[in-house]
Amino acid sequence: MADEFAIESSLKEKRRFEPDPKWSRAALVPGKAAYRRMVKEAEKDFRRYWARHAKENVSWFTPWKKILDWKPPRARWFVGGKTNVSYNCLDRHLEGENAWRKNKAAIIWEGEPGDRRVLTYGDLHREVCKFANVLKDRGVKKGDRVILYMPLVPELAIAMLACTRIGAVHSIIFGGFSADAIRDRTNDAEARVIVTADGGWRRGQIVRLKDMVDEAIDGGAAVNQVIVLQRTGHDVPMKAGRDLWWHDLMADASPVCKPAKLDSEHPLFILYTSGSTGKPKGILHTTGGYLTHVATTSKYIFDLKETDTYWCTADIGWITGHSYVVYGMLANGATSVMYEGAPNWPDEERFWQIIDRYRVTIFYTAPTAIRTFMKWGADHVKKYDLSSLRLLGTVGEPINPEAWMWYRRVIGHNRCPIVDTWWQTETGGILISPVPGAVATTPGSATLPFPGIFPDIVNEQGESCGPDEGGYLVIKKPWPGMLRGIHGDPERFREQYWSKFDGIYFTGDGARRDRNGYFWVMGRVDDVMNVAGHRLSTMEVESALVSHPKVAEAAVVGRPDEIKGTAVVGFVSLEGDVAFDASLAEELRSHVAREIGPVARPDEVRIAAALPKTRSGKIMRRLLRDVAAGRETTGDTTTLEDFSVLASLRQDEE
Ligand code: PRX
Repeated sequence: MADEFAIESSLKEKRRFEPDPKWSRAALVPGKAAYRRMVKEAEKDFRRYWARHAKENVSWFTPWKKILDWKPPRARWFVGGKTNVSYNCLDRHLEGENAWRKNKAAIIWEGEPGDRRVLTYGDLHREVCKFANVLKDRGVKKGDRVILYMPLVPELAIAMLACTRIGAVHSIIFGGFSADAIRDRTNDAEARVIVTADGGWRRGQIVRLKDMVDEAIDGGAAVNQVIVLQRTGHDVPMKAGRDLWWHDLMADASPVCKPAKLDSEHPLFILYTSGSTGKPKGILHTTGGYLTHVATTSKYIFDLKETDTYWCTADIGWITGHSYVVYGMLANGATSVMYEGAPNWPDEERFWQIIDRYRVTIFYTAPTAIRTFMKWGADHVKKYDLSSLRLLGTVGEPINPEAWMWYRRVIGHNRCPIVDTWWQTETGGILISPVPGAVATTPGSATLPFPGIFPDIVNEQGESCGPDEGGYLVIKKPWPGMLRGIHGDPERFREQYWSKFDGIYFTGDGARRDRNGYFWVMGRVDDVMNVAGHRLSTMEVESALVSHPKVAEAAVVGRPDEIKGTAVVGFVSLEGDVAFDASLAEELRSHVAREIGPVARPDEVRIAAALPKTRSGKIMRRLLRDVAAGRETTGDTTTLEDFSVLASLRQDEE
């Protein structure tokens, strides 16, 4: 269990890696003393601390009147200030003392089939202005929502930045989600325009994105315009009056488009994520605070220098891609590498080849990926020259010390600090992470809060826990990148994040802090599973299972998995007259993949005569978790499972 692992490792883990003095001297935060000054400054007055970063790292058309207006749970940062995210990511790198960046690579992109493109800041600016004009011509106005459902191609970043340029609000849907997910999210966001592509490449196959969009619209997504990028070139039906080709629209779009002067609190994007119910949860982020947070954390946590080539392997469809592939990097004038496809296409060497080819200096990926690389073996890695790397990062889930050590040794050659960064879709940017060169690291711990962030671990009563005592991870003071709400559902926002402890942000994670004050995040304490670094709610998968006509009831639990962290196991009981046969389990797995998307396909579906319930009728999830994890068995898992005996034995426990 994630829990037990974290408790054990925090108690047992004694390995500690002090910053290398040579590395520290060259770092933006050059050692412990400089770090302590940052911490002190933030503790003295966190508002002024963040205001300093907002001034240093973001350009404003109009200065703010008030740093923070905080009426929990409503936060407004840099009140009255006006800025524009695309201006910060593009125009300011083409002007004044930074004008030399015009020909610096903003995006180095590699497609899965091997095609390559480099977009300089000058190129990106021109393309973004053109697409912003396209959106305007299509009638998209400030505040309108635009859905982006695209492969990992530069045009996705272009579309994002074009939205921010005119004040439209993008909502990206990861390409692994299905038509139903597109429909639900599009309608929840009340978007009228979708930008998509004919398809994208994944393990040599075409992911047929446009077909999904068509199906979503046929199924009730209330959209009247679809802009289609030609990526794969296969035939796709285009509906007259609704569907338009990206290249046709761009052909004669003007490359001149002034960035809109937007209020600091103007909505920037909505990103849907899994909550504890099946209903789409659109996390809302706004302009000035978010940009300040991601620009500042990108700079200091990745120690960004002009000469760096940074590669974050996340898809832009997740928050990591928003904050640390696109916005945080481009705001700093950095070079961001993007790769469209799978790590094992055409073989398991692809990532190392990319690092070698572009001389990547900073590499940021997920623990699940690292565990997969371990399984594939170090031989693939050794064929390539990784000596350009100077910093490594992880994100998305707890990392087990063994994987951390492998990452350090095999990828980092014991030279590169590792930043284990803890954060969430809701937090906008990183909240807990070592600052490299200044904070000693320990495998498995995200170490300390970024200066200016004030987390705590509390018990059920909201009292701070002692050292090594497990509790709820909360954030006590507001921070610039915090979510501003759930789109269209203020009550759920309050209830979900601000009601458990009054006026304090509840993360939904369990954690402990060791005697050095280091944080050990154990994982979710709610009904959210973290599968391969992606969030899924048990409810979502359960409702997909129950929507199958043969299923009467379903319960979904996570089971520890060596590679993915958590694997998804569904238990179902069948409608009265349905006969059990082995292929039904497979059919149900595919059904979930169709309903939600391939990301949600259960690893296992087990069919039970009836789900085990307490006397009061509640499903005994703990028992199911034990059965899924193999800690308790019904004896025979090849036939219909009968939980009645186990359930009666354990009645008293629940
Ligand atoms: O449980 C924590 C885990 O991922 C959750 C957030 O998921 P999501 O919103 O999809 O964002 C993932 C990318 C930021 C958290 O509640 N998590 C994230 N980073 C870490 C982590 N758990 C342990 N260590 C981390 N570094």
